[in-house]
Amino acid sequence: MLLLPLLLLAVIVPGGDNEDAFQGPTSFHLIQISTFANSTWTQNQGSGWLDDLQIHGWDSDSGTAIFLKPWSKGNFSDEEVAEMEELFRVYFIGFTLEVQDIVSEFQFEYPFVIQGIAGCELHSGKVIQSFLRAGFGGLDFMSIKNRSCVPEPEGGSDAQWFCVFITQYQGILRIIDTLLSETCPRYLLGVLDAGKAELQRQVKPEAWLSSGPTPGPGRLLLVCHVSGFYPKPVRVMWMRGEQEQPGTQQGNIMPNADWTWTPQVHWLDICGNNSALLDPFDMSCIMALEALVISDYLVSPRRVFFPI
Ligand SMILES: *[C@@H]1O[C@H](CO)[C@@H](O)[C@H](O)[C@H]1NC(C)=O
Ligand SMILES: *[C@@H]1O[C@H](CO)[C@@H](O)[C@H](O)[C@H]1NC(C)=O
Ligand SMILES: *[C@@H]1O[C@H](CO)[C@@H](O)[C@H](O)[C@H]1NC(C)=O
Ligand SMILES: *[C@@H]1O[C@H](CO)[C@@H](O)[C@H](O)[C@H]1NC(C)=O
Repeated sequence: MLLLPLLLLAVIVPGGDNEDAFQGPTSFHLIQISTFANSTWTQNQGSGWLDDLQIHGWDSDSGTAIFLKPWSKGNFSDEEVAEMEELFRVYFIGFTLEVQDIVSEFQFEYPFVIQGIAGCELHSGKVIQSFLRAGFGGLDFMSIKNRSCVPEPEGGSDAQWFCVFITQYQGILRIIDTLLSETCPRYLLGVLDAGKAELQRQVKPEAWLSSGPTPGPGRLLLVCHVSGFYPKPVRVMWMRGEQEQPGTQQGNIMPNADWTWTPQVHWLDICGNNSALLDPFDMSCIMALEALVISDYLVSPRRVFFPI
């Protein structure tokens, strides 16, 4: 058995890094997940996100927001933040009671889950577009388009009924419209600026090799680990000379606790026969032990060589 992980011989970054390309996240959204287990047990989970980075949680017992970053309040004053918390506290209580009423009136069955996502995003650095979508039982249910409730086809007649029902509540629709078209863009621009230093930073990938489970007799599985990079997009490939090796697999990219990312594994079933790897003079196989890490934020791909 080869002794792995192997020494990392060289990390070469030709051309230097692209310091200007990355502008950070471009959208903010809130996520609501409401679980109705039975007529008395409901759980509301809330969270706030910049793209796929979470910056807010929600403590549903105390009805208060949890600010996960020192700059999570953006440029909102403490008074405005307190007003927003009060709004969401009232919203979650009202939402729960309203849904329970509808369920008992129309004899819907427990348990079920309602999901909502609402926010706004920058397009080409300025135009801001807002969105609100809701799902019921894992299917699209309704969305807000052009200030109107639009039932989604998957939501069927329930979604059509809901959009007629909500139209009676013009006051609620006006509040939603203000939040989406005025509060959200103002908050997004403010929070992107407040968190700029952290959001626009670049952390270079670390890469190392280890052996994976043996896929069969005489064969070796090499796993290239790439970890600790930010922002998220990254591509790892195995090279033989200038040729990308086929047959590589990449796992899902998992968040680390510190906001950097790790793809689970990236492996190569190398040469199909590891006895060749034991021969130090077989250059073609040694050439294959080169991983290429491509991130949008490196001008040139990073090459990592592993000697056997
Ligand atoms: C409601 O659901 C909760 C959570 O699953 C459970 O603990 C509780 O016993 C249920 N209550 C009733 C009345 O079924
Ligand atoms: C949005 O709605 C308004 C009236 O509510 C209508 O005049 C306008 O044409 C709509 N725009 C789009 C893009 O559907
Ligand atoms: C926060 O920043 C945004 C964008 O720069 C600005 O429009 C807004 O007036 C600022 N202040 C508050 C309290 O939102
Ligand atoms: C691996 O390669 C060696 C020598 O190159 C050969 O003798 C052996 O049969 C090969 N094993 C397999 C499983 O292909």
